[in-house]
Amino acid sequence: MDRRNFLDLLAKGASLGLLLKLSPLGMLEFVRAQSSITPFQKALLVDKAGNPLKLSSLKPHEPYVFAYPFAATPNILVNVDTELAPVDVKMPDGKNYRWTGGVGKSKSIVAYTSICPHAYSYASPNLGAMGYYKPEGNRGPRMVCCAHLSAFDVAKGGEVKGGPAPHALAAVALEYDAARDEAYAVGFLGNPQFDAFFRAQNQALRDLFRTTARAREEVAKATVIPYTEHTKAPTTCPVLG
Ligand code: FES
Repeated sequence: MDRRNFLDLLAKGASLGLLLKLSPLGMLEFVRAQSSITPFQKALLVDKAGNPLKLSSLKPHEPYVFAYPFAATPNILVNVDTELAPVDVKMPDGKNYRWTGGVGKSKSIVAYTSICPHAYSYASPNLGAMGYYKPEGNRGPRMVCCAHLSAFDVAKGGEVKGGPAPHALAAVALEYDAARDEAYAVGFLGNPQFDAFFRAQNQALRDLFRTTARAREEVAKATVIPYTEHTKAPTTCPVLG
């Protein structure tokens, strides 16, 4: 890697300590992932008291929610209790990317936007259209949007397993600090479709946040809360994939 690329990586939010700890293979994965990330402001994940969230405190298969990069764009964070390796995710427009896999001590923690790429239903505080479904039988962990039953593979970068969604669920790029067991959200892998989401949900977001500016406020620290506290009316539906 030349000096300019190295400095680019630092500018995108990677810590020097993290880079120096990576093996040559790890560095290669890191460079591939960095080139795929759409960066947003870097935000530390914190608990309800405002303290840095310790990733080891996340209960297996219990979904949590944090807003990022905007106040009105919730993501679902979950510990799937098994190591998740990086995979390539195919997109219909050919803009494929490398999903970076799980983070945390066991590389089992992932986060995805809750905004469905089909018609932008999401885990709103009033209705949890998008939710997490733990593995059952031969089926792995899924995110499912109950609006029209799109299912996404949590263990494979959010790839579509069923329903009308046109492409994978965008994943939050998490930078993990192993020494502190803490994580930062630094951007997204894939297409989170925020502009389309804000257009589609304009009135509902005004009802929730009173103004579009408040809904689009950038998150400096991402507060993580249990899904059940975020969403008053969680929905459940069949997992068709
Ligand atoms: S909005 Fe999610 S499946 Fe249609």
